[in-house]
Amino acid sequence: MVDRPSVRFRSRDWFDAPDRIDMTALYLERFMNYGITPQELRSGKPIIGIAQTGSDISPCNRIHLDLAKRVRDGIRDAGGIPMEFPVHPIFENCRRPTAAMDRNLAYMGLVEILYGYPIDAVVLTTGCDKTTPAGIMAASTVDIPAIVLSGGPMLDGWHEGDLVGSGTVIWRSRRKLAAGLIDEEEFLDAAASSAPSAGHCNTMGTASTMNAVAEGLGLSLTGCSAIPAPYRERGQMAYETGRRIVDMAYEDLRPSKILSRESFLNAIKLVGALGGSSNAQPHINAMARHAGVELTADDWRIHGYDVPLLVNMQPAGKYLGERFHRAGGVPAVMWELQQAGKLFDKAMSVTGRPIGENLEGRESPDREMITPYSAPLKERAGFLVLKGNLFDFAIMKTSVISEEFRQRYLSEPGREGVYEGRAIVFDGPDDYHERINDPALNIDERCILVVRGAGPLGFPGSAEVVNMQPPDALLKAGITSLPTIGDGRQSGTSDSPSILNASPESAVGGGLAWLRTGDTIRIDLNQGTCDMLVDDAEIQKRKADGIPPTPPSYTPWQEMYRQTVGQLDSGGCMEPALKYRGVVAHPPRH
Ligand code: FES
Ligand code: MG
Repeated sequence: MVDRPSVRFRSRDWFDAPDRIDMTALYLERFMNYGITPQELRSGKPIIGIAQTGSDISPCNRIHLDLAKRVRDGIRDAGGIPMEFPVHPIFENCRRPTAAMDRNLAYMGLVEILYGYPIDAVVLTTGCDKTTPAGIMAASTVDIPAIVLSGGPMLDGWHEGDLVGSGTVIWRSRRKLAAGLIDEEEFLDAAASSAPSAGHCNTMGTASTMNAVAEGLGLSLTGCSAIPAPYRERGQMAYETGRRIVDMAYEDLRPSKILSRESFLNAIKLVGALGGSSNAQPHINAMARHAGVELTADDWRIHGYDVPLLVNMQPAGKYLGERFHRAGGVPAVMWELQQAGKLFDKAMSVTGRPIGENLEGRESPDREMITPYSAPLKERAGFLVLKGNLFDFAIMKTSVISEEFRQRYLSEPGREGVYEGRAIVFDGPDDYHERINDPALNIDERCILVVRGAGPLGFPGSAEVVNMQPPDALLKAGITSLPTIGDGRQSGTSDSPSILNASPESAVGGGLAWLRTGDTIRIDLNQGTCDMLVDDAEIQKRKADGIPPTPPSYTPWQEMYRQTVGQLDSGGCMEPALKYRGVVAHPPRH
């Protein structure tokens, strides 16, 4: 083992409390009931937390129950003492009304654990969408050394000879079912086939995107995020991560020494090159704010759009996680950005070296999966930022705009990129499901579907509902998507080019609140604008009708969430939490 500096870790204030033998005795004794000795706890070794996000109700992260054993081995071998504890579970697909509320809840719980218990450094186990930002936000608030260990995606799914990816198969089957091409049994069958093993979504949905972002931010070991959950390298990565965090504790390598404006700009570009989830926007903004890094909506406009799509993975491309890993994963994508001079490669990382140094020799061997920067799958394929009288901010994921969609809506000669359509407005997803097939709405292929009341306060929690499918009659006629707009989000696995994350949302009086079915909406992708063509006097008049109603809160957290949450453009953070950063500098009282 290398020579280490002598460090008095914060856990000593519990286990070796100056002049408080009574407290030290209390702190120590109960750990012995599972076999830890007082000598271990008083040896001066760092106590390394393992923030366990896996459980039976977080199946995407359940692999961490096994991986934690290898993390422990690594921690022990490197001279630390592991202590595993649970994080509030988050399971994207199953949590009603939406898992979005739980990012901030898990964040808050984790802050209290990391601060209030004798933990010197932490391994953040991540996987399902929001488990990654929640952990990183908490580690930044507390500011103790932290490293991210992804659980990894599931193996590739296959169904009737085709690759079927998590989530994406649901959106595609949903359209086939409505068009009468498959029955309900076949729908369930295809869905089951997309989930062949332990792990998180195997598409470039929000989970793979956010784990890639953690790696891009420099917070996990090189190559960590893309290793499929069941692969041998996953367990090996768990071991190495356990080893590394012990050194990081001695080096005092905290999030505040790693995360910079440059690292977040790298993350924004990486998401574009991956064809990553639109949920990356609020999560990256939230992580930046908790890290004290200035990042604005404008940064998405300036750095987030003009990025080529390099990764051929569903929903923007063809393949799934196994091939992405074999093609070199995130380091190979970052290598492309670096070679093209698009990466801030001096940004720091958990290896203790600048991120650029970690990328040496990481060129992809599979150019069908990860293209060269100079020959991408699509040019300018990142997120477009839009604004107008419907909202101050919304984004559109351009990597999933299909050729058919572009032809139908964005290719009118002389007005390329400009589209005008009749609005069909729904107050929340229930209203959409009730009325989408109502013939009275007279929805045709020129209509724009709008859902409001789906934002952080409205839903509450900002629901993944903006990727609304057309009415069955249009689907049967072969119209598979209409333009959609909403103040909610959509699943990262969706291939819909929606305009979403609209802020401010309808529930706080954003422009969407004053839109009416039948109004004309004008979208101009060249100017980055989206407006209802309704004059100001009429809008003022409609304000007398009041904000469209939203459901009441039914749990204490729904109530508190609504009182504290901000809008999606700024990350949907718990606003009162943002003033707390580096809280570890103020040791908690006995
Ligand atoms: Fe959990 Fe996709 S639903 S990772
Ligand atoms: Mg999701």
